Amino acid sequence: IPVDPFDLVIFGGTGDLATRKILPGLYRRFQAGQMPEGARIIGAARSELTDEAYRELVRAAVAEHVDADRQDGAELAGFLDRVSYTRIDARGGDGWDTLAAKMRPDTIHAFYFSVGPGLFGDLAERLNTHGIAGPDCRIVVEKPFGHDLASARALNETLARHFVEHQIYRIDHYLGKETVQNLMAVRFGNMLFEPLWNAQYVDHIQITVAETVGVGGRGDYYDKSGAMRDMVQNHMMQLLCLIAMEPPYTFDPDAVRDEKLKVIRALDPVDPDDIVRGQYRAMNGTPGYLEDAEAPDSPTESFIALKLHLSNWRWKGTPFYLRTGKRLRARTSEIAVTFKDPPHSIFGEQPGQRSNVLVIRLQPNEGIKLKVTIKEPGPGGMRLIEVPLDMSFAEALGEGVRDISDAYERLIMDVIRGNQTLFMRGDEVEAAWAWADPIIAAWEARGDRPEPYDPGGSGPEDALMLMHKDARRWREVRP
Ligand code: BG6
Repeated sequence: IPVDPFDLVIFGGTGDLATRKILPGLYRRFQAGQMPEGARIIGAARSELTDEAYRELVRAAVAEHVDADRQDGAELAGFLDRVSYTRIDARGGDGWDTLAAKMRPDTIHAFYFSVGPGLFGDLAERLNTHGIAGPDCRIVVEKPFGHDLASARALNETLARHFVEHQIYRIDHYLGKETVQNLMAVRFGNMLFEPLWNAQYVDHIQITVAETVGVGGRGDYYDKSGAMRDMVQNHMMQLLCLIAMEPPYTFDPDAVRDEKLKVIRALDPVDPDDIVRGQYRAMNGTPGYLEDAEAPDSPTESFIALKLHLSNWRWKGTPFYLRTGKRLRARTSEIAVTFKDPPHSIFGEQPGQRSNVLVIRLQPNEGIKLKVTIKEPGPGGMRLIEVPLDMSFAEALGEGVRDISDAYERLIMDVIRGNQTLFMRGDEVEAAWAWADPIIAAWEARGDRPEPYDPGGSGPEDALMLMHKDARRWREVRP
């Protein structure tokens, strides 16, 4: 469905995120016919660039980040016609009147703050003092949204001085992933799962986000964050919320976000024994974390595993195991819901019988697998075995499913539509920090160091123990 005409200003329009994700994503939406005639994209940054030079930059970004078979010269020319550039000084007065003159009345105005959070306040203030930001305009901000509760609160307050909450779109790109949204469809669009979705029937839930990349190239940022701040406080917390929340009464932004917030608030403090932090070591000539981050004594974790508990009626007693790390064996994200065993086996001892597991593969090879028990075929009597009911989205829906695989495209279009469902509300972000802060403070106070782990594996030994000590096992990290 095409959206209404819009003026989208990308502050930081020459930066890494803009060229890697935002502009190529917009181009793909243009190709998909989702951009109306009246859509305009205005890059804004500090460099002195002509419109033509900026279009060249956009052309190069598309060439690099859009699949070669999707590139089309004529289409690209049509897209570039909608692109222009304004030089602005975020901390001064230059460029703002020019930008103001470019904004068309009676059009949706969206401002993407693709810049460090240190500039949010300056941009917000100038948009207002120059009369650019109307009451219906939208602003989009990126992570990191704060470094802790205090800084997140300060950012929320800064933005609240100039905008109301319904104008603020805080991106967590995991919420734009097709399969992450599918969590809600699977849970609330089927009768099959929800009656079993509680502590009475679910033994435990594992959430894994494994990556093969290291932190080389962005060590500066990463070393101040670590896996807890970089992945758990935001992306993994969102996954946990979607898997654990109560059904919202409707698929409306605040109805959904109210339910997510309740999950975060129901999280128990985490026992230090239920946390394992790791740091990948150098191996066979590939640099370890300490070299990648250029911080020889760094205590920052590139891997973390945690066992969490929720204190509410639905989940009391069912642990959630989360793990995420860099330089692991495969890039794979999945959620596995392991159900309890039947209360009594009418078949006696059955070594082949396993618990039912519902695996939701988020990326790559998006799909859903349900492991069920059946009789082993043949005349050998009643012997039970486990088989998968396996559904890959690509097989079930055709390769067309790939067209919508980039999270940013979806999210930017939602900004234009004015739909905040897939964006984090200020109180959600603060609640997630309020949970994470004491955990981080505790390991810092103890001076804990992360456990080194070999790259290409599944993380440190102690992470395996975290589940073994509960007589459970992680699923293998594999492609
Ligand atoms: C980012 C983190 O937010 O998400 C990165 O800063 C991480 O460290 C990335 O690699 C993972 O995103 P994706 O979409 O590749 O799973």
